[in-house]
Amino acid sequence: MKPSRLPMLLAALLVAITAAPSIAQQSPKPEQLVKWRQSAYQVLAWNNARIKSSLEEASYNRDEVQRAANVIAALANGNLGSLFAPGTEKAKGWRETAARPELFTEPRVAQLAADFSREATGLAQTAASGDPAAVRESFNKLGRTCKACHDAYRVKD
Ligand code: HEC
Repeated sequence: MKPSRLPMLLAALLVAITAAPSIAQQSPKPEQLVKWRQSAYQVLAWNNARIKSSLEEASYNRDEVQRAANVIAALANGNLGSLFAPGTEKAKGWRETAARPELFTEPRVAQLAADFSREATGLAQTAASGDPAAVRESFNKLGRTCKACHDAYRVKD
């Protein structure tokens, strides 16, 4: 090899090495996406339970409910849909995905996701009022959007 070609070769090698991690970052593996979405739903369930227990307790905890509602609203408006990328239809995350195949093809999913975002935002706003009766109503509305999507697009246990 001519010595003059060595720097070019090294430069090419360096590009290849440094490019690899950024490609991996741009497209996480299906297993990773499914783990993230299953984890996100677990966080939703956690915060749902916090609100439910505050509504059931004798003394309503306004701060606790506001914090939990904010987490739910952040997730609901955080584009969970991007975690349902092509290739994740049959992937295993923490467990086999429970998403039904129709979720990836039916346009109605977008409407259900939009309903969910709207009600989550509504709950966070109602929580600020500190009125338990209003929170209960928003909370029930939100719960119906969880159920509507699960009934149609989540495999039954
Ligand atoms: C637009 C559809 C949709 C909405 C809205 C929705 N979910 Fe789900 N949920 C799913 C799907 C699909 C799965 C299965 C994910 C997977 O296994 O890949 C799931 C899974 C779950 C799981 C199980 C996670 C695990 O450990 O695998 C829980 C808990 C859950 N959802 C709670 C909720 C709660 C609480 C709400 C409302 C506050 C909600 N979901 C709203 C579609 C939805």
